[in-house]
Amino acid sequence: MITTDINKAKQSLIHDNIIALPTETVYGLAANAYSESAIKKIFTLKKRPYNNPLIIHIKAASYLNTIACDIPDMGLKLAEKFWPGPLTLVLKKQTHISDLITAGKETVAIRVPNHPIALALLNELTFPLAAPSANPYGSISPTTAAHVLGYFKDELEVILDGGECESGVESTIIGFEDNKPVLYRHGSICIKDIEQIVGKLSITTNNNNKPNAPGMSSRHYAPMTNTYLTNNVTELLKSFSDKKIGLLLFNNKLLNTENIIQEVLSENGNIKEAAQKLYAALHRLDKCNLDIIIAEKFPNKGLGKTINDRLQRAIMK
Ligand code: TXA
Ligand code: MG
Repeated sequence: MITTDINKAKQSLIHDNIIALPTETVYGLAANAYSESAIKKIFTLKKRPYNNPLIIHIKAASYLNTIACDIPDMGLKLAEKFWPGPLTLVLKKQTHISDLITAGKETVAIRVPNHPIALALLNELTFPLAAPSANPYGSISPTTAAHVLGYFKDELEVILDGGECESGVESTIIGFEDNKPVLYRHGSICIKDIEQIVGKLSITTNNNNKPNAPGMSSRHYAPMTNTYLTNNVTELLKSFSDKKIGLLLFNNKLLNTENIIQEVLSENGNIKEAAQKLYAALHRLDKCNLDIIIAEKFPNKGLGKTINDRLQRAIMK
């Protein structure tokens, strides 16, 4: 059930149950990162394959050494600059970190969430939280407590309500290969801001055969409705004249379009606002019994890259 009672969440976690919690990016399904039985519950509820590792959420950067070791200086600099915040660092794991969390990898993903409720809860606990996004594997991430309830109904004892997520897309994931920084997932912090701290990033977000970050698998973040992505919505519409259509647009409604549902993400053309509203708009469109959703491609820079990345993966193959 939906609640704001942090103590209920704490009790649930102490008893090895999983809860949903708000973060500044999306809602997460959280479990005691030191309890294998609790971690297994996440994989089962999400129907997530065991080869897809989880992110550990810690209360402050000072706890980094309890989870990771051999941390490159650049990693420390990034943590200092962006935590608490939507940056996930992939680092060499301490040996005691469960293989369930890391999918058997030698590395572990870690972040400090920047949400008052998530931080208040972490501060009440003696263990960190393993938490993937609170959606069934492959579907749209939740940005409200109601989205989580819609997915999991009575299966969660506690869904902590923290309102609408502030940034609305997942964290940016950075790892290190041969001591050089690598982007594993586009996210809430754009590449340019990361590069200001660490210099040029290499990008390995599209390799499905070697899923460094399986959240990058080709179909992910996907609505149930067949979805198209285009630079020219008006043109594509012509091929679907007899269909029930929903449009996902950046800043302008299309005129003279009867019977078409339109979601405009930011009337002022503010890319941050668009990212914040992206998943909620997709959730709404997906509930409208449409034949298809047509999404407009965003300007491919800054956060626009992250939005395009998610829309690309929302397309059914
Ligand atoms: O914003 C977020 O990161 C949200 C909130 C809840 O914190 N969490 C989230 O978790 O998006 P999840 O599990 O949905 O996505 C985590 C991604 C997955 O694509 C996973 O493959 C990748 O992180 N990942 C986890 N451990 C990794 C590792 N050791 N190396 C590379 N990628 C890893
Ligand atoms: Mg996810």
